[in-house]
Amino acid sequence: MCGIVGIVSNKPVRGRLVEGLIRLEYRGYDSAGIAVVNGQGIVRRRAPGKIINLQTELDNAPIDGTCGIAHTRWATHGRPNKENAHPHQSGSVAIVHNGIIENFKILRQELAQNGHVFATQTDSEVIAHLIQFYLDRGMDEEAAFLACVERLEGAYALAALVGDANQTLYAARHGSPLVVGFGEGEMFVGSDAFALAPFTKRVLYLEEGDSAVVKIDAVQVRDQTGALVTRDIQTASISAVMAEKGNYRHFMEKEIHEQPEALARTMAAYIDPDSDLPIMGDTGLLLKNADRVVAIACGTAYLSASVGKYWIEALSGVHVETDIASEFRYRTPALSKNGTALFISQSGETADTLAAMRYCNRAGMGTVGIINAEESSIARETDAVMRTLAGPEIGVASTKAFTAQLAVLAMSALGMAHLRGRLSDEEIKTHIQALETLPELTRKAIATKTQCEAIAPVLAKARQTFFIGRGVYYPLALEGALKLKEITYLPAEGYAAGELKHGPIALIEDGTPVVVIAPSDPLMEKTVSNMEEIAARGAKIIAITDTAGAEYFEDRAEHTIILPDMPGLTGPIVSAIPLQLLAYYTALELGTNMDQPRNLAKSVTVE
Ligand code: M6R
Repeated sequence: MCGIVGIVSNKPVRGRLVEGLIRLEYRGYDSAGIAVVNGQGIVRRRAPGKIINLQTELDNAPIDGTCGIAHTRWATHGRPNKENAHPHQSGSVAIVHNGIIENFKILRQELAQNGHVFATQTDSEVIAHLIQFYLDRGMDEEAAFLACVERLEGAYALAALVGDANQTLYAARHGSPLVVGFGEGEMFVGSDAFALAPFTKRVLYLEEGDSAVVKIDAVQVRDQTGALVTRDIQTASISAVMAEKGNYRHFMEKEIHEQPEALARTMAAYIDPDSDLPIMGDTGLLLKNADRVVAIACGTAYLSASVGKYWIEALSGVHVETDIASEFRYRTPALSKNGTALFISQSGETADTLAAMRYCNRAGMGTVGIINAEESSIARETDAVMRTLAGPEIGVASTKAFTAQLAVLAMSALGMAHLRGRLSDEEIKTHIQALETLPELTRKAIATKTQCEAIAPVLAKARQTFFIGRGVYYPLALEGALKLKEITYLPAEGYAAGELKHGPIALIEDGTPVVVIAPSDPLMEKTVSNMEEIAARGAKIIAITDTAGAEYFEDRAEHTIILPDMPGLTGPIVSAIPLQLLAYYTALELGTNMDQPRNLAKSVTVE
C-alpha cells in the first residue's frame, strides 16, 4: 500500500507531484521519491521517511520537468531506506509500484544472468529492469512495457517513464487501484481520485488487468487481452477541501469532531422520509432471503461487524458469523448458497477483504459491501453497496468511518427485521427515531473531551491498559484497545468482561487502568460485578457509562465518563467516541504521530 502519482503536462510538474504525494501519505510514509524527464534524461530524488524529507532533498538539489512520477512507500520487501525508495531506475526506465511482485526472485535471477545489476532489496526494482531488458532487445516503448506487465505475478499498480526523452506515462493495474485524471493540457495518474482532487475531478478508473498509455492530451487503454477499450470518464465526488485539517491540529481530531455530521448524512440515506422506514435498496432482497449472513472485514471494520452480529441476530433472528478476512480467505469456509456475505471496509481496497469478496462472488453467494470509498474495488464488485457517508478519512486510526459503519449495520439489522416481519412498523419507527438522535448524542459525547484529556496522563504512564465490556460493548472494548495501541504504541487489551476470571485477571496489579464500558442495559449489572472483582485487586477503574448507570460507579471508579442516555441501538455508536478521545489525548500526551502511526498505513492493499 504505497501511493503513486504521475503527471504529463506542458508545465513543470514537480510541485504538483509532491502535492499529490502529500495527499497519498496516508497510504505509507516509509520513504518517498520523484523522477522527472528533464531534457537530459530521467533524474530522480529520493529520501527515507516522510515526504517532508523529500521536500528538503528537492530544495537542496532541485529537479523539474514536464513529465514525472512520484511515490510514497509502505515497505514490504527491503528496509525503508533511501536505497529502497521508489522510483526505481534501470537505464532509461523509471517506475513506481504499489503492491507485491510475487515472482520477483525468478525474474531477478533471470535478469541478473543477462547482466542486470540490482541496486535495491525490493521486489519492485525488477519491473524497471524487465522493461529495459525488452527495450534492449529492440521492442518499442509500449511493447516493452506490455511485455513486462505480462510477466508480472502478484498485485500491482504501476506507473513508468519509458525512454528518457518522452512526454508519456505508462500505467497498469492488477489487484491495486489506479486512476487516470484528465486536466487542461495535462493528464495524471494516481492511486486514487483523492490524490488528483486539486488538479482534476474528471477521472477514469482502470479495471483489473488494464494498461494505459497516457499522453498530454489523450489516454489509450488496453484490457488484459491487449484489446483497445474505452472506459467511462467519471466526475469524482471527492473535493480537495474535504481533506484539509481546517482548524484542527490533527486529522484524527477533526474526524472525531465530524461524527455528528457524518452520522446525520449516513442515517438520512437509509430512512425513507415519507414512511420513516428503512430504505434497503438492492440489499433488501439479498438480506431478506439470506438464511445466514457472514460478515467479513479487517481491523476496526471487523469490530463493527462484530457489533452488527449482535444486532442482526437479536432483531432479525438470522444467524451471523463474523470472520477476519485474512483468515476467511485461506481456510475452506463452509458457505451457504442461500447466504449473504457482508464486506465492511472504509477504503474498499483492503487486499484481504477484497480477496474474500471475490471468493464469495465465485462461490455464487450474494455479496453486499458496506463501504466508505465510493469508487473502490469492493464497491464496484459487490452485488449491492451500502455506503457509509463519512467523507474522506485521512487519519490512519479509523474514527468516523467506524461509527458510520455501525449506523449502516444498525439500519441493516432493522431493515432485515422489517422485511422478515420480526418487528412491526411502529417498533421499527421507534428504533429509527432513536437513531435519529445520534448527531445530538455524539455531540454530547464529544463534549467529554476535557475529561478524556485529563485521564490521558494516567494511560500514558501505565504499563498496560485493559478495556472490558459485555454484549455489544465487548467489540467496543476491543476497539478501545486497538485504538490505544495503534496510535500510542502502549500495550492494551480488550476482553469480554465475563472472560476475565478465565485467565486475564492474573494481569491486574495495583494501579492497572481498566476502562469499563458499561452504559445501562440488561448486562450492565453483570459488568459492574466484574468491575468489583478487579477493583478489589487494585485496578484503577475508568468507567464509561450513561446518566442512569453513573450511580453504580460512584464510589468504585477513579474516573466516570458520563454519556447521555442512549436509547435503542445508539449505545455502541456513542460510546465509541470517548474511546477515540482517550486514545487521541494519550497520543498527544506522549507526542506520537496519531495521524501517521509508525509501521502503519491507512489502506492495506497488500495481504
Ligand atoms: O479500509 P478498511 O476499513 O478495510 O481497513 C481495515 C483496517 O485496516 C482498519 O480498520 C484499521 O484497523 C484501522 N487503522 C484501525 O483504526
